[in-house]
Amino acid sequence: MAEKKRHTVTAALPYANGPIHIGHLAGVYVPADIYVRYLRSKGEDVLFVCGSDEHGVPITLRAKKEGRTPQEIVDIYHQQIKQSFEDFGMSFDIYSRTSSPTHHKTAGEYFTTMLEKGCFVKKDGEQYYDEQAGQFLADRYIVGTCPRCSFDGAYGDQCEKCGATLSPEELIGPRSALSGDQPVKKKTSHWYIPLNEYEDWLKEWIIEGHKKDWKVNVYGQCKSWIDQGLQPRAVTRDLDWGVEVPLEEAKGKVLYVWFDAPIGYISATKDWATEQGKDWEKYWKSEDTKLVHFIGKDNIVFHCIIFPAMLKAHGDYVLPENVPANEFMNLEGEKISTSRNWAVWLHEYLEEFPDQQDVLRYTICANAPETKDNDFTWKDFQARNNSELAAILGNFIKRAVDFTIKNFDGQVPEKGEYFDPEKELEQRVKDAPGKIGMALESYKFREALTLLMEVARAGNKYLADTEPWKVIKEDKARAGAIMNMALQTVANIVILAEPFLPFTVKRIREMLNVEPLTWPHAGNLELLTTGHQLGESGVLFKQIEDESIALQVKKLEDTKAENRADDGQESYEPIKGEINFDDFLKLDIRVGEIINAEKMPKSKKLLKLLIDIGSEKRTVLSGIAEHYSPEEVIGQQVSVIVNLAPRKMMGIESQGMVLMGEDHKNIRFLKPDVKIKNGSIVR
Ligand code: 2FM
Ligand code: ZN
Repeated sequence: MAEKKRHTVTAALPYANGPIHIGHLAGVYVPADIYVRYLRSKGEDVLFVCGSDEHGVPITLRAKKEGRTPQEIVDIYHQQIKQSFEDFGMSFDIYSRTSSPTHHKTAGEYFTTMLEKGCFVKKDGEQYYDEQAGQFLADRYIVGTCPRCSFDGAYGDQCEKCGATLSPEELIGPRSALSGDQPVKKKTSHWYIPLNEYEDWLKEWIIEGHKKDWKVNVYGQCKSWIDQGLQPRAVTRDLDWGVEVPLEEAKGKVLYVWFDAPIGYISATKDWATEQGKDWEKYWKSEDTKLVHFIGKDNIVFHCIIFPAMLKAHGDYVLPENVPANEFMNLEGEKISTSRNWAVWLHEYLEEFPDQQDVLRYTICANAPETKDNDFTWKDFQARNNSELAAILGNFIKRAVDFTIKNFDGQVPEKGEYFDPEKELEQRVKDAPGKIGMALESYKFREALTLLMEVARAGNKYLADTEPWKVIKEDKARAGAIMNMALQTVANIVILAEPFLPFTVKRIREMLNVEPLTWPHAGNLELLTTGHQLGESGVLFKQIEDESIALQVKKLEDTKAENRADDGQESYEPIKGEINFDDFLKLDIRVGEIINAEKMPKSKKLLKLLIDIGSEKRTVLSGIAEHYSPEEVIGQQVSVIVNLAPRKMMGIESQGMVLMGEDHKNIRFLKPDVKIKNGSIVR
């Protein structure tokens, strides 16, 4: 296929109903960003769009759960997602949102054009309705048993257990997600896109046309859909949150979220073009534009069948040339789940591993679920950093820079004659841009990363083979020539690594003291002129210690315990070793009354209590501030260990310990069931 003049690259618009996690990054955003950075480095005209998907039932359900309006929900999460993407180095040209006026207008007009062209079929029929909530139950508003896998939490549009796409009518034992009631049927009308009419065209376009260039997992899913026969699909909903259907007779109805969301890519382009003084239409309507959608596997049908049918029906737009969807990333062997908090959240990672964005980018790319589901583990994350990034890439670069600083005043020494080791490394460096580029253009990101690391490995091997630290004692010119070769290789890594590790590359550039270098220069072993002054050396990848990994693993274990508790499968702490009665008698436990309580400044957990234990008053610091307010504890009788050695915390001496009953969710006082004398003995 002839080279296209420009590229429009889209990354799936995440729902603004929760933060971004590593599953999103692995499925969509890391590969998309690598691809785009590579194209830009090549000098291509590329537009990279993304934004928040702010309509649909996931948003309204979240709003209901949190007691907020849908607008409040999307405002909170849009901001958070946008910020964490930015901090993670996602190089979108625009991060837009579907609640924007441009989007409402664009999506509304798109519907009108299709309507005027006769692309919809209006159907009167009956749909499930919740009488108590006074609402039709579309998509996730209705739950029931999946007819395919018998999972009893399938939604009206999809079963998250087996991935089946469903309609509410297919659910066994349907019930409302709002009230839990059994729904009734009520009359309504909707507009449908008759996908069945696009079947022949889709067969030709995908099954015949993209057998070779689409990924096997994507092609396979599309083929199976088409082979099963396509049904008309409603593009409107009886909801009050979304893009209003621009028709008098459809008052109170909105566009189906999967109708409006992909149009969000177009709206985002319009906003970007206005900001940049560009012509948006070229990026969507010109035959010499290559459109590529990066998505996760649960979005395949929408981007490969429904949206293309919409583009085809409208008539003015180009079709996607590729849809390189990834499979899912699991976490420590289990499916990532937002509702069960089984995830590594991007905003938390950025706080806990500041300045280590590239370690996550690297680990995710090295394990990208390109052909099958894959697993993220913290142990692997640590090993990728310590044994690969630090030991191979960081080590090579630091050795080359440090040696030059120490022995050549930090100036690039003169190039020398090429012997076998130079010829071997030269070949590797010269081949790398072509090979890596080819892998990236075929959406094989793991392979591309392996090829990049092979350059660093070859650099290390070169230094080990040529031993400049020995050579310099007898032949400084030869040692200089070795350094020239090594530093030219580092300069090539600046180009080749930028799509994968943009933060690190910035630091390498500072070490080399060079401006950004672009892909067409890669493979050249004379990027640095003789005498060029290097910058300061530095550590590119800090070791990640066992303790910080243990902390992350503990966090997940806590989540697991909380989930077990939620499921009613509480696990019990093992019973401690036996003690004798004398051991017990050593404890002096008394009933005391809390007579004052206040929050400890700068502590989320501690309350400072004053407890009357009969004979005296004791100050006790207790870690209950997240479970009790000071006001509610005053006047309560509790059990206190009064002969525990005093302990100083945050500058205050705690003179006892309040006994608590504690599970994974609650911490409550252990107290007498009726009021008794303060100072009474507990035995
Ligand atoms: O699955 C999702 O998270 C959707 N919000 C993706 C939408 S992609 C596009 F169509 F906007
Ligand atoms: Zn199922």
